[in-house]
Amino acid sequence: MASKPGHQLVRYLFLKLRPEWRQLDLAEQEAHKEEFGLTLKSFHGKLLLRTYSLAGTRGDCDMMLWQVAEDLETLQAVETVVFSTSLGGYLETPYSYIGMMKQSAYEFPKVRGQEGQTTIAPSDSRYLFVYPFVKKRDWYALPLEQRQAAMNDHVRIGRRYPSVRINTVHSFGLDDQEFMVAFEADDPGDFVDLVMELRESEASAYTERDVPVFTCIQMSIWEMLDTLGGASLAERAEAVEPDADGFVPVAELDELPSGTSRRVYLGTEAVAVFNIDGKYFAVSDRCTHGRGSLSEGKVDRKRCILECPWHGGWFDLATGIPAGGPPVVPIRTFRIKVEGQRILVG
Ligand code: FES
Repeated sequence: MASKPGHQLVRYLFLKLRPEWRQLDLAEQEAHKEEFGLTLKSFHGKLLLRTYSLAGTRGDCDMMLWQVAEDLETLQAVETVVFSTSLGGYLETPYSYIGMMKQSAYEFPKVRGQEGQTTIAPSDSRYLFVYPFVKKRDWYALPLEQRQAAMNDHVRIGRRYPSVRINTVHSFGLDDQEFMVAFEADDPGDFVDLVMELRESEASAYTERDVPVFTCIQMSIWEMLDTLGGASLAERAEAVEPDADGFVPVAELDELPSGTSRRVYLGTEAVAVFNIDGKYFAVSDRCTHGRGSLSEGKVDRKRCILECPWHGGWFDLATGIPAGGPPVVPIRTFRIKVEGQRILVG
């Protein structure tokens, strides 16, 4: 079942390879890696899936799959097929965390371009620093104004480090921790400085648990698999090749009936696709005003314009040009076509 609109589900799946795998001959290792990589690629269009290596950063895990999906069943499907592969027979799950994207309970001073973010929109940062987070119960007994003031201070410190981007998801009731926190950065030094400074904030005194910490290095599936050692696949071609015109399949036709929209994923980019009385449109899922999720917007079918669900900005679906409201920057448009039972975007 899909989560509420705007409530993406997020999973951090950490995997550890058993040492016996390294005793296999190279041909078998190569076949295992290829099957595993193609299996992950088969989820293209169904969820946002980023691959990270932890080789050299932690002893108890080798890889991390950062998954952002519309429902729990998709996360479960990834788990099932990953462990159905030959390589999966040699993998263990030392850690796994889930959470849900939703708006914070606190009001924060707005940063232009980051207002009201309700979808995960990863950057291309090289590193991801991930940890589960639990606050002391005393924190929740404080008056809301005091918690708000402490969080304002926390945010003020964070904004002194613009090169570090934070992604927080809520796990209350879904998993053991309260939040999953993931910082994206290109320089681990910036992150270390930020964490040291945050330790001195008032909110930090109410931390119950913020370990283990995972330092993850972003790379392609094939590069990630090569950090396991054994046969090398890094040079191989990507499995989901665009067709000759640069189009990639993102959904089945029956997943987008007339009058509906949905969020799909083109590589690591979220794309909103629309079927308006048999006419198809594809635009970036992220509003240029404040990152509202446009696949959840309302469509004026007559004029083929889309209203952002956040602050009522309008965009022309064919050109991406703002047609009213606060946005001034056009959204990116994509080419879209139907071939047989498949919808392709390019
Ligand atoms: S986020 Fe403000 S109009 Fe879209």
